[in-house]
Parts: sequence; structure tokens; C-alpha cells
Amino acid sequence: MKPASKAAPTIAIIFGGTGDLAKRKLVPAFYNLFLDGWLPEPFAMIGLGRTDTDDIKYQNHLREGVIEFSRSGEPVDETWDIFRNSLSYLRSNINDPASYQGLADKIHALEEAWGTRANRLFYLSVAPKFIEPVTIHLSQAGIASDPERDRIVVEKPFGHDLKSARDLNQLLTRTFQESQIYRIDHYLGKETVQNILAFRFANALFEPLWNRNYIEYVQITVAEEVGVEDRGGYYEGSGALRDMIQNHLLQLLCMVAMEPPVTFEAEEIRNRKVDVLHAVQRYSREDVGKFAVRGQYGPGWMKGTQVPGYREESGVDPKSGTETYAAVKFYLDNWRWQGVPFYLRTGKRMQEKSSSITIQFRPVPHLTFPTTMAESLMPNRLIINLQPEMDIRLRFMAKKTGLNMALTPAEMVFDFNGNNSHSQSPEAYETLLLDAMQGDATLFMRSDQVEAAWDVITPILETWESRPSLEFPNYAAGMWGPENAEALIAREGHTWTVTFPH
Ligand code: BG6
Repeated sequence: MKPASKAAPTIAIIFGGTGDLAKRKLVPAFYNLFLDGWLPEPFAMIGLGRTDTDDIKYQNHLREGVIEFSRSGEPVDETWDIFRNSLSYLRSNINDPASYQGLADKIHALEEAWGTRANRLFYLSVAPKFIEPVTIHLSQAGIASDPERDRIVVEKPFGHDLKSARDLNQLLTRTFQESQIYRIDHYLGKETVQNILAFRFANALFEPLWNRNYIEYVQITVAEEVGVEDRGGYYEGSGALRDMIQNHLLQLLCMVAMEPPVTFEAEEIRNRKVDVLHAVQRYSREDVGKFAVRGQYGPGWMKGTQVPGYREESGVDPKSGTETYAAVKFYLDNWRWQGVPFYLRTGKRMQEKSSSITIQFRPVPHLTFPTTMAESLMPNRLIINLQPEMDIRLRFMAKKTGLNMALTPAEMVFDFNGNNSHSQSPEAYETLLLDAMQGDATLFMRSDQVEAAWDVITPILETWESRPSLEFPNYAAGMWGPENAEALIAREGHTWTVTFPH
């Protein structure tokens, strides 16, 4: 990773400039970078879309997004008026070469006015089927051909399965060098996720214990309260395994399980992460039932409000077989982790929004205290809360205050935000856009990582697709997922961690 500094003059070109992502995430992120003094100077963002609008209307539309979605809230007029000048709109047709000529003219005009060849960041916030025409036309227009200064950012989903991800990688690398391609997994930009590396590798205390000798199991939970919202059309072709496990949860697994990198260079870190994916034990299709559980939410209650089941959501087939919950037990075949289960689970319409990693340590090897005290004895446990709580909690045993010797669990807590409010920590997209503008790919997915992650889930995907569940819906909205997810880990004598908002 590069030291913190401003990036060189940059033009960000957003394909899908009138879409949801630009309004909710990208522009609020650019604006916050601007407020915090991180935005390159000069900077311009060109939004591309089919809508017939003009710069002023476009800027106003984006301002609404900042008001609604930015951590900094409603923009102050003086600062917004400076920032808005960097936002412009270009009406274009993604399949029409003439549109790319228009884009080239606009880029060249800006660079001429600035007196410098800018870094160009081409951001593909479009449906996967448009990636091909965009890369072909960019290549023909010759505006993305400088391997040092031109970069392409690709949003998820990155492929639909291993084959389509490979095809997409081949397509992109026909036009761009791997070093120019930034595949986004927004979880890697989250503050608490990045902190896993600091926690593990900037402290001598934990690493000696971070292995099969001391750790009994690891749990990674990403639970969402929201349902499928207005994304039924997309989600029907995806499901929880593709939407969350293949990318976000497997990346978290990599951060927890990777070997210490020798340096903090992008390639070194990405190599150590891909090693983890290669070590994940692959299951035969016959064994999938022992290692993976799926669920789909039915109607239920969320915090006192009745909500529909997945099959009743708009854009969803009333007989849908798509999973909205997935839990998988992984093992890693390497020296450090042999025999340690890694339980991953994610679901929509769960009781509460809560993402956390639990590292469960083994019990003490010998019981010094009389059995009357042993009842309260609990093994050490480390919980890394990623969101919305942002803290790290270490449970250890202590003596209860009093004249007799009694034991009680105690907790040491590191609150990530300290006294700061959550609104002060940067959003994932701020980190990721800044890194992409600075040419730092550490937090982005390399082609082999993406393919290895698809390879890991392929047996589960294929098995689930070939054998539709007869039990769906099998959990009510507002619950913690289907019952057989408990059974999945109860076989090992384990239970899912229950976290409470603090
Ligand atoms: C996206 C998924 O990648 O991540 C969504 O497509 C999901 O379905 C979202 O809701 C969760 O992200 P976050 O940052 O809200 O945890």
C-alpha cells in the first residue's frame, strides 16, 4: 500500500453515471474525499448514461444522493459549489463508437485545459453484459491504453460461475494489463476489515496463538436485516452463495487465515490470500449436504412490522428456488489450520444487521480449579465486530471480587471509533476510490483470486442448482436462518455466536 498522499490529476469516467451506485456510493465518496482534502487536483468526473439531461440537472441529482447517503450529510453550499464544478454529464450509447469519440474529445479538452495528461479511471458500474462492448470500444478509441495511467474498475458480480469469470478475465486482459484492472469487493475497503491485517500483523501477541493448536474454530457471520429490496431481478439469478459467500465472506476468511506477508505490497498480500483459497478443501458433490446449508426467507416480522417472504417480493418467481441464506463449513488443508472448521454464514431478513468474526480458542489444557468452579469456565474468545458495531472483544476468565475464589468471564474491548462518531470513519468506497486513483491494488481482487473463489464454491453451486430445495421457504423473516444451520455446526459440538447490540 502506498503512503497516504494525493493522487495525480484524475478524470473518473463513470459508465452507469445515472445509476444507483453513482448516486448512493461513488459521488458521496468523491465528495467526502474532497472535504477531507484527498481528492486529486485537478479532478473531474464524467457521468455517462442514456438519459437526456444536462450538467446542472445531473449535479442536482447527485447532490440529492449526497444528502441522503453521505456520512457527512447535507453539503454546505460553499463547498458543494466548488465540488459540483468537477461533475459533468455526457449522454452516450454504450454500444455506439461515436459515443466513445465524444468521450475522447471531452477527456482531451480537459487535459488540454489542465496542461497535463491525467490519470483516467474508467469505472464500470453497468450490467455484466456491457463489459464487452465497453472494453472493445475503449480499446478502439485508444483512450485507455496507457498501462501506467489508465485504469479500469469493475464492479461485481464478477462472473456468474468459474467459467464466466475466466471468460471475463480473458476479455479484460485482451485490452488491459492485469495491473490496470481493479475488481471491486467493497468489503475490503471497510475500516474494520482492513484492521484485521493491523490486528494480526502489527502485534506480536496474537500471531503465536493463531493456529490449530490454540484455535478450535472460526465463525464469520454477515447477517442483514434487509430483504432483497428492489433487486429481485438480479438476486433471482444470484442467491446468497454467489452474492456474498463467493466474494465478501471468502475474502474475510482469507484475511483471518492468511500467512503473515513479508511486505505490505499489493502482490505479496494478494499472494498470501490466494494461498488460502487454494488450501480450502474441495468437496465432492455427494458431500455438499454435510458441509453446506441453504435457506430462503418466508413472511415474518421484523422489529414489529410484518414483511413479505422472498417469493412475494417484486421481480421474484413465486416458486423461486433461490437461496437467501447460506451457511458453509470449510476446512483448510495446510499446516496452520488442519482440522479447524471455518463456519461462514450469511442471510437476508435476519434478526439484526450484524457482521462479525469469532475466533474461538481451545479450553485450558488442565483444570487447576475445583469442578465447582469449572461450570463458569469459558474458553477465550475473540470477537471482531465489523458492522454496525465496530469493535474487538476478548473474553477471558477472571476472579470474581470477593473473599472466596470464584471465576467469571470478563471482556476487554477495543472500540474502533473510540470517542469518534461512526460518521467520521471513511466509507469503503472512499478508501477504494482513493486507492484506485493512486494506483494501489492491494484491496482489489486479482484475476486468480476471483477464479479461485469461484472454484471453491463450484461444487456447492452445482449441487444446489441440480437439486432444488423442497423445503423453501424454510425460515421466517426475522429469524436467524433455517434450523439445519444449527445442525451443521452442532455435529462438531459448536453453536453460532450470538451477539447483542451493545
Ligand atoms: C452487496 C450485495 O455486495 O453487499 C448485497 O450484492 C448486500 O446483496 C451488500 O446487501 C451488503 O453490503 P454491506 O456493506 O451493506 O454489508
